[in-house]
Amino acid sequence: MQYGFFDDDAREYAITRPDTPYPWINYLGCEDFFGLFSNTSGGYCFYRDARMLRLTRYRYNNVPADAGGRYFYLRDNGDVWTPSWMPMKSKLDRYECRHGMGYSKISSSRNGLAFSQTSFVPLHDTCEIHKVTLTNESKSDKNIDLFSFIEFCLWNANDDMTNFQRNFSIGEVEIDGSRIYHKTEYRERRNHYAVWAVNVPIEGFDTDRQAFLGLYNGFDHPQAVFDGKAKNSVASGWAPIGSHHIKARLAPGESKTFVFVLGYCENPDDQKWEKAVPGGNHGVINKKPANALLEKYNTPESVNNALAALNDYWKALLGRFTVDAEDKKMARMAGIWNQYQCMITFNMSRSASYFESGIGRGMGFRDSNQDLLGFVHLVPERARARILDIAATQFPDGSAYHQYQPLTKRGNNEIGSGFNDDPLWLICGVAAYIKETGDYGILDEKVPFDNDESLADTLFVHLKRSFDYTVTHKGPHGLPLIGRADWNDCLNLNCFSKTPGESFQTTANFESGVAESVLIAAIFAFTGPDYAEICKRTGRNDEAQYAEKAIAAMIEAINQHGWDGDWFVRAYDAYGKKIGSRECDDGKIFIESNGFAVMADIGIKDGRAQKALDSVKEHLDSKYGIVLLQPAYKDYHLELGEVSSYPPGYKENAGIFCHNNPWVTIAETRLGRGNRAFETYTKICPAYREDDSDLRRMEPYVYAQMVAGKDAVNHGEAKNSWLTGTAAWTFVSISQYILGVRPCFDGLILDPCIPSNMKGFTVTRHFRGADYHITVDNSAGVEKGVKSITVDGKPHDSTVLPVFGDNKVHKIVVTMGK
Ligand code: BGC
Ligand code: NOJ
Repeated sequence: MQYGFFDDDAREYAITRPDTPYPWINYLGCEDFFGLFSNTSGGYCFYRDARMLRLTRYRYNNVPADAGGRYFYLRDNGDVWTPSWMPMKSKLDRYECRHGMGYSKISSSRNGLAFSQTSFVPLHDTCEIHKVTLTNESKSDKNIDLFSFIEFCLWNANDDMTNFQRNFSIGEVEIDGSRIYHKTEYRERRNHYAVWAVNVPIEGFDTDRQAFLGLYNGFDHPQAVFDGKAKNSVASGWAPIGSHHIKARLAPGESKTFVFVLGYCENPDDQKWEKAVPGGNHGVINKKPANALLEKYNTPESVNNALAALNDYWKALLGRFTVDAEDKKMARMAGIWNQYQCMITFNMSRSASYFESGIGRGMGFRDSNQDLLGFVHLVPERARARILDIAATQFPDGSAYHQYQPLTKRGNNEIGSGFNDDPLWLICGVAAYIKETGDYGILDEKVPFDNDESLADTLFVHLKRSFDYTVTHKGPHGLPLIGRADWNDCLNLNCFSKTPGESFQTTANFESGVAESVLIAAIFAFTGPDYAEICKRTGRNDEAQYAEKAIAAMIEAINQHGWDGDWFVRAYDAYGKKIGSRECDDGKIFIESNGFAVMADIGIKDGRAQKALDSVKEHLDSKYGIVLLQPAYKDYHLELGEVSSYPPGYKENAGIFCHNNPWVTIAETRLGRGNRAFETYTKICPAYREDDSDLRRMEPYVYAQMVAGKDAVNHGEAKNSWLTGTAAWTFVSISQYILGVRPCFDGLILDPCIPSNMKGFTVTRHFRGADYHITVDNSAGVEKGVKSITVDGKPHDSTVLPVFGDNKVHKIVVTMGK
């Protein structure tokens, strides 16, 4: 069943009933202030760091689901209801939620009272705006009570959910007219507060949760609303909230609009107080920054202008790569939602979603480098800065902190290093950046190692250390040592964890020096040539020769020890036994090494690549995508680690771990098999499963990290939507390898590999200061092959388009054929 539809012209997904199979969310904010916003107004917001500076409280894993949000309650002649359906599950005469690019709109009605809410974070400001309009659609006057409601988080989201012996005594607020200030801990070490304001005079307010709700009531039965009267409560400890009570008289046909703003404000340490109380610093907070912010968004007009500016921002951004084709699902995913999701991963990494609590993970070294592949064409300057941040957390020996914290940009000691694929992703990210921009200057940037300025060297040296780390950390078969894990965090071949609760990754009590990864070998063979090319193009010819030799040796090791007869081996364990081989009982074949080896063009000449991908299809494919391995591990294997800890069919144990499916898609295009490439693309692509939402459950407009595999009870059910490397890699697979518009060092390559029944498509691509309007004609019905190209009407005898850099539009016509 479908729960909505795509509105491509508006770049929106419209949800037409509120009881979606899971909360379907959107992200507000693109710089410093962010909000998660569900289709029933659930979610929370934070300033920069979801753990340290969280403004509102959210209850993960709560019953009912999706507890906490920015709620509005209406009281219409004694009838109390929530226009966003939740939290009262009110019966609505009309309901729609539209998630767009950085904003969401909810509109509904009941008994002739219409409600609409537009929520977004304006560009360059640190607040969330909720514009609410009430319209009397009935024939008689209405006297409406409107109550707002948010619950403040006591800033540190982890403490907020754990340290109640302290929390229940620290909450503080200030109320000033229609403005409610949350100032917990401001008297001590914080120099920031939150403000929840509305642009009209209010009838009353509440700031204490118990006073507003009643101790034994949930969000679905706020006592104050049912009483029709705010309690004017002033929170002191316990749970500070913000609620405004507004009375609105509406004649038939009349509308009234209210602007609610939830802002984050900071003051310099010496200007924290407006009025200091003698003998203490517990005075009245300095509201200057709040006044300035609220002044700016005081009228519906100013809010509309800010929303228009946000729309322009997204229009320009997504205008850098657009697609049109008969297949609207592909076009809207590649042109709109996939790129949007890539920007969300740019902002969030893996920190805050409805599956990531915002408390746990920082920025991943490998994650961030791979995410970059999906947004470098959109925000090249920000990608550049990101690369330098990531590289600064690399260790002098080329290895890397597995994660770093976004606020401090420092490596995360708890996890440390030892994930031996990490260094290579830096080469991959930097190569993508240079191919996109032509900016070799980045290689000369001085970047610290381990965040230590005294160890700084050029980015090029960082790349060299990355490359050399793999070269110098090889095992008995000449393949790279795996360390704690490679891309597959759950293949923990040196960890041997026996104790419940301990980390599978960091419990390294068995340094074998033996366990090897064929995947890392393949990543080396894929990304190494870019390193060699960068060396050549910057006059480092000796280094290029050295790199080429190292790559050849690695390919030789894969050929010798990484081939199992019908597919590529996955790894060798700490005892030198194969993983992902016919010799194994379970885990005979894995997806990753097969996809990546073929991406690196290994085995293409001698038919092994074809065989490997045929084996993937035969053993790993399913209706909903390609599973990670087969057969699933039935028992826990001490020598394999977390991969065997999951029940069969979930996560890395034979789930459809979507991130690696596009590796197979790309590999298929290397063989020219456009039909199969497209099939693997569509199977995990959410838009193709829109009418199957009851099973898939996640948003039809974004990729999920995992879909339950064929061994799982709920085969086809997705989990962990939004924050996944799937976004970047699917975008690479569709834009660069299927549609075939691929940046390379010399320019833009046109190399489509599409299904034979796709008659053609158009792409517009902004590239190094010019716009390429590309039309591809496949009336020949082939899967791959370019017969001719014209550029601005003239024949062009190469599949590489020139770099124009002239700020002009260039018309490219590609005719496919044999
Ligand atoms: C998950 C992985 C994740 C890892 C590290 C594991 O439990 O299955 O997907 O990458 O934890 O956070
Ligand atoms: C999620 C992690 O963020 C990513 O780094 C890893 O590669 C995958 N899980 C697979 O384990």
